[in-house]
Amino acid sequence: MIFPIIATIACYLLGSVSFSVVLAKALKGIDIRQHGSGNAGATNTLRVLGKGPAILVLVLDVLKGIAAVWIGRWLGDGSEWIAAICGIAAIIGHNWPLYFRFRGGKGIATTIGVMATLVFFPALYAGIIAILSIVFTRYVSLGSLIFVFLTSVFLAFTGEFGPYFWASLIICVFAFWRHRTNIVKIAQGKENKLGSKGGKRV
Ligand code: G3P
Repeated sequence: MIFPIIATIACYLLGSVSFSVVLAKALKGIDIRQHGSGNAGATNTLRVLGKGPAILVLVLDVLKGIAAVWIGRWLGDGSEWIAAICGIAAIIGHNWPLYFRFRGGKGIATTIGVMATLVFFPALYAGIIAILSIVFTRYVSLGSLIFVFLTSVFLAFTGEFGPYFWASLIICVFAFWRHRTNIVKIAQGKENKLGSKGGKRV
């Protein structure tokens, strides 16, 4: 029992490494949470710091999710429950990071890493539709929500209501909760569009 507990705590601590906060501080000496949308994530890094740093943050945040599931599988002796719990722990760390006063991101990049490692094909199909929705609407937040929602839906289609399905539902709830402001803005037509001047570059 001790190893799964260690794995879960380790994954929370790993998730708590907020790469957008670290990079913005290192490159510009700023707290990214005071700029743009105020979110500690890749989309806001793009807005505030530009493409290169945004891609780096995206890749590193996705890797956190992948690593968390691997840690869970390793220390959980291949248990699907432990792998799923470790993935969730990393997303919780990303959203509410221990090292940054519990003010983190919205968890989507880390969720991509977690879900793609747990359930590759449902995540891939959901990801393709999410990317198309971003291309057509230019709302990253909408694409993010479509991704998490459809991953759960596609998993339900497989008829396997095991740990990965329940994990996807919990992750979906986290994502909708973290995007509640974005949802209101989308409804009001005030949401930032990709490529628009929704935030000031520093
Ligand atoms: O993953 C975050 C994205 O969905 C929205 O980010 O900065 O536009 O609130 P932001």
